[in-house]
Amino acid sequence: MAISSGLFSTSAAGDADGVRESRKKEELDWPEWGRGWLHVVGEFFFQRISASHLENPLTLPHLNGFTCIVTGSTSGIGLEIARQLAEAGAHVVMAVRRMNSAYELIQKWKSEKQGLCLPLNVEVMELDLLSLDSVMQFAKAWNARQEALHALINNAGIFTLGESQRFSKDGYEEHMQVNHLAPALLSMLLIPSLLLGSPSRIINLNSIMHSVGFVNPEDMNITSGKRKYTSLAGYSNSKLAQIKFSSILQKRIPAEAGINVICVSPGIVHTNVARDLPKVLVAGYHLIPYFIFDAQEGSRSALFAATDPQVPDYCAMLKADEWPVCAYISHDCRPANASEEAHNLETSQAVWEKSLKMIGLPADALENLIEGKNVEQHFGN
Ligand SMILES: NC(=O)c1ccc[n+]([C@@H]2O[C@H](COP(=O)([O-])OP(=O)(O)OC[C@H]3O[C@@H](n4cnc5c(N)ncnc54)[C@H](OP(=O)(O)O)[C@@H]3O)[C@@H](O)[C@H]2O)c1
Repeated sequence: MAISSGLFSTSAAGDADGVRESRKKEELDWPEWGRGWLHVVGEFFFQRISASHLENPLTLPHLNGFTCIVTGSTSGIGLEIARQLAEAGAHVVMAVRRMNSAYELIQKWKSEKQGLCLPLNVEVMELDLLSLDSVMQFAKAWNARQEALHALINNAGIFTLGESQRFSKDGYEEHMQVNHLAPALLSMLLIPSLLLGSPSRIINLNSIMHSVGFVNPEDMNITSGKRKYTSLAGYSNSKLAQIKFSSILQKRIPAEAGINVICVSPGIVHTNVARDLPKVLVAGYHLIPYFIFDAQEGSRSALFAATDPQVPDYCAMLKADEWPVCAYISHDCRPANASEEAHNLETSQAVWEKSLKMIGLPADALENLIEGKNVEQHFGN
């Protein structure tokens, strides 16, 4: 499915005047915060209307010879992304922490597809984003194959709503680690395989909730005491950090490398992401199916970003315009404007530098990886 080229203009990404100037602030201004919540509420109430032009499921092109890794594909949106890509003929690697569940899913998909001539080409590899060591082991194993990778879909994520602050064994706030730092490390370490698959794409499952996030690069774990930790802040900050890191990554990857970084919003989707909500809220969640997408509907923006032929042109246009934010595709498969705070290049650069330190990569890691050199990882911030 293609979208009209008129949509792919920088004006569609909004007017960033007044946003590029450097600002030092400790949190979102009230008007920005209010506008952020308006976007969240707007997506909730109007996502079905704005996405009414889309098919469900999205028709995908034939993907024989297309290899992709989908993280967190045992549940929700990731499961749908993996299944549909596999059914379109792609070689899908399910990067998951519950391997048995993934094997069971593959068996189920195969039995449902019995009689069709296309055999599903799906495999399972272990990945736990709560451990940076697991990410390194995964990337090492994958890169050792010297196999082209065409799309890395960073889907796995957590939102432990209402729970107290928790830290990974690497010492990082869990939302920040699972939703931003570990996918960032995975993206960086898989650059050699993405180069082999070039033109290739890194797709990050982001969220409209980034609009109410704020990242202080000096306080990524929200432990300084300057701001109060809530799980909502943990989640929205991690999603904003992902856009900021992705924007600098996209800027620094030379155009000739042919790797594009895209953030997508799946919409507000009924999945296991709500499993940690209080029971009464989960019940409420079930009562509003009209507004909430199902996982198949929620998978469309990521599938679109991973497979539509116009997406690389859009990324190239943003790059040529030195746009401060990487491509952001909304739940309706249209290019959208990320939040005002996401346009702040100064903090994006600071988040890039801080994130590299936190994941143990040197400042020139990207350039070295692109030149085919090894990078040494040194943990500790
Ligand atoms: N649902 C929404 O309304 C919504 C809105 C905006 C953005 N998103 C984003 O969409 C993505 C998918 O979420 P979803 O709604 O499909 O949620 P989900 O049903 O809870 O699926 C999340 C997936 O991530 C995996 N995962 C969690 N922690 C992991 C870890 N430490 N290591 C490896 N995998 C891990 C889970 O694995 P297990 O199966 O083992 O738990 C699961 O497969 C997330 O990034 C989320 O933030 C969702």
